Amino acid sequence: MENVVIGLDVGTHKICTIVGQVRRDDIFVIGVGIEPSRGMSRGIVTDMAALSKAIAASVHKAEKSSGYQIKRAFVSVAGSHIASVNSRGAVGITGQRGVNLDDLEKAMEAARAIAIPHNREVLHVVPRSYSLDGQNRVRSPLGMHGFRLEVEAHIITASSTSVANLEQSVEAANVLVDRFILNPLAAGDAVLTEQEREAGVVVIDIGGGTTDLAIFIEGTVWHTAVLAIGGDLVTSDITYWMNVPFDLAEAVKIQRGHALKRAIDPLETFLVEPFGDGMPIEVKREELADVIEARIEEIFEKVQQEIKRSGYDGLLRAGAVITGGCSQLPGVREVAQRVFGFPVRLAKPERLTGMADVLRNPSYSTSVGLLRLGLQMDTPAPTEATPITTPPTAKIGQFLGSLFKRLLPDEDEK
Ligand SMILES: Nc1ncnc2c1ncn2[C@@H]1O[C@H](COP(=O)(O)OP(=O)(O)OP(=O)(O)O)[C@@H](O)[C@H]1O
Ligand SMILES: [Mg+2]
Repeated sequence: MENVVIGLDVGTHKICTIVGQVRRDDIFVIGVGIEPSRGMSRGIVTDMAALSKAIAASVHKAEKSSGYQIKRAFVSVAGSHIASVNSRGAVGITGQRGVNLDDLEKAMEAARAIAIPHNREVLHVVPRSYSLDGQNRVRSPLGMHGFRLEVEAHIITASSTSVANLEQSVEAANVLVDRFILNPLAAGDAVLTEQEREAGVVVIDIGGGTTDLAIFIEGTVWHTAVLAIGGDLVTSDITYWMNVPFDLAEAVKIQRGHALKRAIDPLETFLVEPFGDGMPIEVKREELADVIEARIEEIFEKVQQEIKRSGYDGLLRAGAVITGGCSQLPGVREVAQRVFGFPVRLAKPERLTGMADVLRNPSYSTSVGLLRLGLQMDTPAPTEATPITTPPTAKIGQFLGSLFKRLLPDEDEK
């Protein structure tokens, strides 16, 4: 099978490996491997050995379910060490000819040449818009005539040591990193519509350890940020408030949690047995919601500050799209809407086919986005994945495929 791509989402809460094919608008999922994460905190590697073990386990599951041996992958990256800045680059166009790819590359090179400290590296350079001889907002200048081409680019940088630690953990699991992809860019790709990106939107992925956001306006990314706060903080709050272990607090949050106190009946209570000694405690669900609401509100206030800091707060006509595991807490949308004062939509990955059921959940937006974005941003050859043994169905498919090829022109040749 051709063009098999691997996405490896190394989260704080879970590690998700997806083997898939990008087919026009859809992603066809061939196999998935999900494993609880270890050795990560707030998007940063804290224990390389534990993390690579968890990565290896997730990759192994994906190999078993897909029948492909995984050698390389597009890998997610987040953490508060991420920074972004907008920059301009220009290039002169000589002779009476239209702008060509070489000119675009040179302009991007010039935009990329910003001074960054030696301990940081550039992760992405995304063109936002072009101008040609002073005419602004040119979308695609290829072939157009002019003397001076300028590009406005969004540049994302990361701490070299944080990236190196992540890369080493992935490589210790016998997987090479095709390319690192910033979490919120991947999430945006998985859940936003073209119309939202055009109109102006912020995508917010609330995970376990980080809250990742990206602002898209006029079809491209204008601002990105990673905040070191997420659903684990909500669980920690419950741990302290109830004086119970983290795992129990996590279960309470998922089974009984609500982010909106006023939605809960003040008389509703439930029993929790903290230490298995048969001494249950009675918990008022309204009080639990109060604890959760305070933290969720704080998360959205920090996001709001970041949006304001970007200077694009007045341009988000499509409002906010929220995803990530923590977006499943009931009431999250209402709290976000109250804090932001604009419309909010909850989202999970769409446009999936194949073995995709488990992935149709907000926790996997970034995981799914990695595949398509990796291919778009990259790289000469698609990710290497070889069948361990050719699955019988694939063999039949190949046979039928070769028959049809003789009868029909290739899709791309049509
Ligand atoms: N049904 C649910 N209701 C409420 N919260 C949930 C639910 N399922 C998962 N969560 C929370 O979502 C968070 C994990 O989200 P997610 O899987 O997106 O994180 P991650 O990608 O591993 O972490 P990160 O991206 O921050 O590194 C955890 O805090 C978890 O408690
Ligand atoms: Mg995540």
